[in-house]
Amino acid sequence: MINFRYVELKNFLSVGDNPLRLDLNRHPTTLVTGRNGSGKSVLVSDSLTFVLFGKSYRGINKPALINTINQRDSVVEIEFSKGNDVYKIVRGQKPARLEIYKNNAALNEEAAVRDTQAYIENDILGFDCNSFIRVCVMSTMNYTPFMQLSAFERRNLVENMLTLKSFSEMSKIHKANVSNLKERITSLQNDLSVRKATYDEKNRTYNLLQQIDSDRTDSIKSNLKGLGEKLEFNEEVVRKLEIQIEEANLQLLNDSALEYKGKIQQIQREIREYEVEISQAEKKVVYFKDHQDCDQCHQSISKESAIESISRYSAIMSDHTSAIENLKTRLKVVGDKLDEVNAKIAEVKELDQDLSFAKKSSNVIATDIRKKLQELEKPQASSDEAVRIKNEIDEVRGQIKYIASKYEEACAQKDVATIASELLKDTGIKAGIIKQYIPLLVGYVNHYLEQLNISIKFSMDENFNESITTRYANEYQYQNLSMGERSRLDLALAFAWRQVAKLKGSVYCNILILDEILDHALDIDGTTAALSLLDSICEDSNIFIISHKANLDESVRSIIALEKVNGFTKIVHQKQTI
Ligand SMILES: Nc1ncnc2c1ncn2[C@@H]1O[C@H](COP(=O)(O)OP(=O)(O)OP(=O)(O)O)[C@@H](O)[C@H]1O
Ligand SMILES: [Mg+2]
Repeated sequence: MINFRYVELKNFLSVGDNPLRLDLNRHPTTLVTGRNGSGKSVLVSDSLTFVLFGKSYRGINKPALINTINQRDSVVEIEFSKGNDVYKIVRGQKPARLEIYKNNAALNEEAAVRDTQAYIENDILGFDCNSFIRVCVMSTMNYTPFMQLSAFERRNLVENMLTLKSFSEMSKIHKANVSNLKERITSLQNDLSVRKATYDEKNRTYNLLQQIDSDRTDSIKSNLKGLGEKLEFNEEVVRKLEIQIEEANLQLLNDSALEYKGKIQQIQREIREYEVEISQAEKKVVYFKDHQDCDQCHQSISKESAIESISRYSAIMSDHTSAIENLKTRLKVVGDKLDEVNAKIAEVKELDQDLSFAKKSSNVIATDIRKKLQELEKPQASSDEAVRIKNEIDEVRGQIKYIASKYEEACAQKDVATIASELLKDTGIKAGIIKQYIPLLVGYVNHYLEQLNISIKFSMDENFNESITTRYANEYQYQNLSMGERSRLDLALAFAWRQVAKLKGSVYCNILILDEILDHALDIDGTTAALSLLDSICEDSNIFIISHKANLDESVRSIIALEKVNGFTKIVHQKQTI
């Protein structure tokens, strides 16, 4: 509970340089009197809203609150206790000041007290200006009774009174949170599909590269197989040729050829010798045909001898001729054999050439095989690319996993925020709390209405729609009531709210100001009833009644009379009546 102790004004509205102090914790009921414009509202209403909230009660702008005569050093100071702490707030203009003291130590010098006004309302008082006015300052000047508020204003007021504002704030936060999370989820979903598409594409490329690699390896292997078969075949050819060449025995053939050549030369020599001898014999025959002497010694020889020589030489010629024929026949045989051997030698040489060609082929094939084997072992360009893409795939997979976890996290957070925002809606927790308090409020209102001697029954639903029943009509609206009846209902509602606020601890303080509230519509009965009601509910409050009504002195415990002296408000009279 806030226990206000005093408020002190200086150069504020009609108060001048001499500070005017009002003891706020004085007597249960205080009547503040004075002529119009004497400064009653300044002293009790404007001073409080200004010092606590920086606003004038009557709704004028701040510079206009400075006393127009002195025009400077306008200060309002208030002191109050809360629990065991004593606070003092000093607010001024020209120069601007806002100081908070807690047990005489200045607070707003602390770094923590950044937004001083928010600190005053949230951390010290526990209520804002609207709630304070609703519960503590009823005035004809700037006070709209609950019944004249719009549905929105009523809800706002109820939420303030029942300290439900934080639910609305939380609801806003959660709603914003839900929409942020929705955006995040959509963005994560998009991110996921992009990454998945990248992942699929990289996988496709990777598989293609793998395929290319395996195709290349298969092709090399099949080449190797072909080369191997070729080499085997070639080696077989080499082997066969070698066998053939070995079997042909070139040495033997060459020896035979030499031998045949020697025989041919021998036969040709023999033929030539026979031919020389035949030619000599032929010459002898010719000689002895024409001569009767020895061709050597030229002694004459007989005809017979010559004939016998011709015959002898002819026989030699014939023998030799047939010997030559025989030799030629032999020469032909030997020549044929030599040809045969030479043909075989040529055949072997051809085989030899074939062999060396086959061997060369084997070498070429073996070189090709070695090259292909090296190619097989060589790291492939595509495998480097495949390794790079595999790493990228792993990276993208990791990213997908991370984003998916963030996505799940965001979905879970969104579910929680959605539930929280549902609970915090007007129809959620707040409706439950309001439902609890409305019967309480209505109970108080009807209780106070009874005490204010008015026989109407008031009720209100969860949407703050009132229904009024009187002795004469079942369904009345506020506007159906007379001004005096409205005044009593307004008072009953104001007191009821004060009670609810006190129970809820939202606005719980020791002052109540009624600025000309009792003056207008209330008749004598109404005023008396209101005063006696005030007396009964004021056990821990100080009630300030500003009124122009006469004869109220007896109904209050103290009186303050104000007057303007030399243009400045002054307390001219104070007295305790009881
Ligand atoms: N800035 C200011 N400087 C000096 N006086 C001002 C200033 N603003 C208003 N006043 C005067 O202060 C006086 C105080 O008015 P206030 O409303 O307190 O009177 P009141 O006693 O409540 O009168 P009423 O009975 O008519 O309500 C008025 O005469 C008004 O003209
Ligand atoms: Mg006034």
